[in-house]
Amino acid sequence: MEIILTSTPASELETTALVALAFGKAKNGDDKSSDAPHETSVAGLDTAVGGWVSEVYAAREFAGKALETVVLHRPAGLKSARLVLAGAGPKSKFGSSEARKLAGALLRKLKAKGISEFALCLEGDLATECLVEALTEGFILGDFEPDAHKTDPKKAEKKIDSIRLSVPEASASLAEALRRGKIIAEAQNFTRALVNEPANLLTPLKLAAAARTMAAEYDLECEILDEARMKQLGFGALLGVSQGSAEAPYFVVLKYVPASPASSDDHLALVGKGVTFDTGGISIKPSEGMEKMKYDMAGAATVIGAMRAIAQLKPSIRVTAFAPCVENMASDRAQRPGDIVTSYQGKTIEVLNTDAEGRLILADALTYAVRQGCTHLIDAATLTGAIAIALGHLYAGVFSNNDKLQSKVIAAGQTEGERLWAFPMDEDYNDYLKSAFADLPNIGGRYGGSITASKFLENFVESTPWVHLDIASTAWLDDSKPHLSKGPTGLSIRTMIRLALDWDAKN
Ligand code: BES
Ligand code: MN
Ligand code: ZN
Repeated sequence: MEIILTSTPASELETTALVALAFGKAKNGDDKSSDAPHETSVAGLDTAVGGWVSEVYAAREFAGKALETVVLHRPAGLKSARLVLAGAGPKSKFGSSEARKLAGALLRKLKAKGISEFALCLEGDLATECLVEALTEGFILGDFEPDAHKTDPKKAEKKIDSIRLSVPEASASLAEALRRGKIIAEAQNFTRALVNEPANLLTPLKLAAAARTMAAEYDLECEILDEARMKQLGFGALLGVSQGSAEAPYFVVLKYVPASPASSDDHLALVGKGVTFDTGGISIKPSEGMEKMKYDMAGAATVIGAMRAIAQLKPSIRVTAFAPCVENMASDRAQRPGDIVTSYQGKTIEVLNTDAEGRLILADALTYAVRQGCTHLIDAATLTGAIAIALGHLYAGVFSNNDKLQSKVIAAGQTEGERLWAFPMDEDYNDYLKSAFADLPNIGGRYGGSITASKFLENFVESTPWVHLDIASTAWLDDSKPHLSKGPTGLSIRTMIRLALDWDAKN
């Protein structure tokens, strides 16, 4: 699918569907002064089509509500075969998040109709970098389907080949915004495709190989530690998890070094949990819903995808990604409850529950990142079921040992429309993590499960500023939305990319 910027005006565009954003009234209680209810993104559209726009509003067939659409065939006065009004909600509230969703929903709706090409017009104050970038992202994200393994030949029939974004002047800055949106959304879809792969096809070896291939394509340095190297280094916590699987573990390291000397010595680490399948191990999970545990490597796929975008967008900060990749299986050589392992950091851990495996592999990964000289750590992990109990599926959880870095991450999420919610990390929660036989147990009690998981991780960052994102709540969508298919979301990747891009600006 190609997305092209054009300065051909609406009246001259020859296309199957010409789309104008059409705004609606603000809800009661909102400031209505700035919202003209019949305004569209094409000046003089109503007059050009003989008053049709005001007529559909007046007939109350359309109110400009978000994601609503209405279609006029053979609009007189235009060269397009159809005119589509895409409801955009109140204009004063129309920002990048709204634009991203609108674009996704619009693309999915037109694709379902069998349309293969359309044009969207942005005139006046709507032809901004922010909207061009967000619309581009929304189109690409909306186009993703988790059907890579379906063999039905009909699948290829409904496909959008080309989208034109019509703006008054196709300037270099708008072209750059389109390029950014494309890079970011394609990276997010790359992550989603990896997350969607079943565990028989995406083993730790295959995940590491996918990272290596990507790194070669985008000129990143890639280093992969194998089992022997991890034994040598003493990754006891990680190796305890992988020992039950016939699949060998791999530890992926991807390095981005800015070409021009960076303005600071800051070195950002992106760390992602890569459990290609989580059976729970000997503390085995119930079979219902276990198939979804193929998404337990979403954190790893997210940091690998983020590096794909970072390699192209070239922020001024140094960034290294670390992705421990293992499979958590039950077998005659699997780790048992009660086993005690020694982490790379040196602390001993009593494995009270083999299903709390993510924190074990992250413990060694976080320590490794610190010892590689990283000055700031962000990790993403599908760490606890408890996070979705607390937040539902709208927010990912944020846990940190550093308020300043935490605020930066939350702000990056806000810019990108990725909702993040901070949890308390009081010292007293350490009382929930007591083992009689080792330095730490790998689980707390019944309460505050996402917090105790994070307090466990905190032991391995050696007081380096660190933010943990628990994405178990947001990485997978059980039912499709108008703008997104069901399945892997790739969420938190844009927060990571944004953080790297804006590092100096917001320091
Ligand atoms: N991968 C799971 C967490 C998870 C659950 C992710 C549901 C996505 C959806 C993690 O390894 C796990 O099993 N956590 C346990 C921790 C418990 C044993 C303390 C959990 O959440 O039940
Ligand atoms: Mn588990
Ligand atoms: Zn897990």
